[in-house]
Amino acid sequence: MLRRLHKDQPASFAFTPANQKWAEAQITKYPEGRQQSAIIPLLWRAQEQEGWLTRPAIEHVAEMLGMAYIRALEVATFYFMFQLQPVGSVAHIQICGTTSCMICGAEDLIAVCKEKIAPTPHTLSADGKFSWEEVECLGACTNAPMAQIGKDYFEDLTAEGFAQMLDDMAAGKVPVPGPQNGRFAAEPRGGLTALKEFDSGHTKYNASAQLATDIGDSIKRIDGTEVPLLTPWLKGANKATAPAETPAEAPKPAPVAEAAEPEIEEAQPELLTAAREGGADDLKKIKGVGPKLEETLNELGFYHFDQIAKWTEAEIAWVDNRLKFKGRITRDGWIEQATKLAAGEETEFSKRVDDGDVY
Ligand code: FES
Repeated sequence: MLRRLHKDQPASFAFTPANQKWAEAQITKYPEGRQQSAIIPLLWRAQEQEGWLTRPAIEHVAEMLGMAYIRALEVATFYFMFQLQPVGSVAHIQICGTTSCMICGAEDLIAVCKEKIAPTPHTLSADGKFSWEEVECLGACTNAPMAQIGKDYFEDLTAEGFAQMLDDMAAGKVPVPGPQNGRFAAEPRGGLTALKEFDSGHTKYNASAQLATDIGDSIKRIDGTEVPLLTPWLKGANKATAPAETPAEAPKPAPVAEAAEPEIEEAQPELLTAAREGGADDLKKIKGVGPKLEETLNELGFYHFDQIAKWTEAEIAWVDNRLKFKGRITRDGWIEQATKLAAGEETEFSKRVDDGDVY
């Protein structure tokens, strides 16, 4: 299938403030020089926000990651999970058409799509609310036939039930995901034959359907206010990147047992205007410091291992706040590394740098 950008594109793209925060937090997961690895989650969030991936969105993500547009376009056009054309404003329906589902009635579901949405896939319904496509096995074969709608799986479908489900969605209702024939999960249709004392626990639906129901974001456009993003690798009190504002009716996510850390007041470390006589140390011998970060450190006034080795917690906070990707000083153990290097010792990483194994 030829995958091209859609002919009609919006003029611009911007993440919502909460999604922007989320995206910036994702980037901090990757080491210096490897931020481009965040391309898929960022593109995915852009799609979750807009429903499909627009050219401005792809370019916006490329800019955030310092990538050439063509590289981001390569990713967006390679993976079928990225929608390159507008999708229904209510939902995009993905019908599994692989063996189990095909044997169990996928063709009937596709017939419903053709009748109620549009005769061809990737085409908006007349009211613009729905679009559909056939996809390969989604891994829910024991609950065939099934469809992925938004974030969730709707399983054990019948043509009639599926048609009703579309009507309900058009009317603003969100059906409960999971098996639609009364099954709890993927147990035999005739009931359990073993482990009969199995207790489903205390939830009404199976874990996936229950969580989907609790969060309620099945077919919602994601603006970042749904569930606080946990960023435990970042320092500071606000480990959860809190939503800009949480709608009053939004269900609360399960509490997370994570103690908040007090905010650390920053203090400026001693800075140098230039390297001391003898020249600057090769700060790239510190794992986590690449050429760009070394340049930034030099610009800030750090040229030597012993300067870094002396940073206090408050000084780390000062430097952290001036680096593009927070949290890496502690996460990568700069102080411990710099202390050894300042004492003339080697670290495992500095040996690799000396051996020319790290570029
Ligand atoms: S064949 Fe449809 S989910 Fe596997």
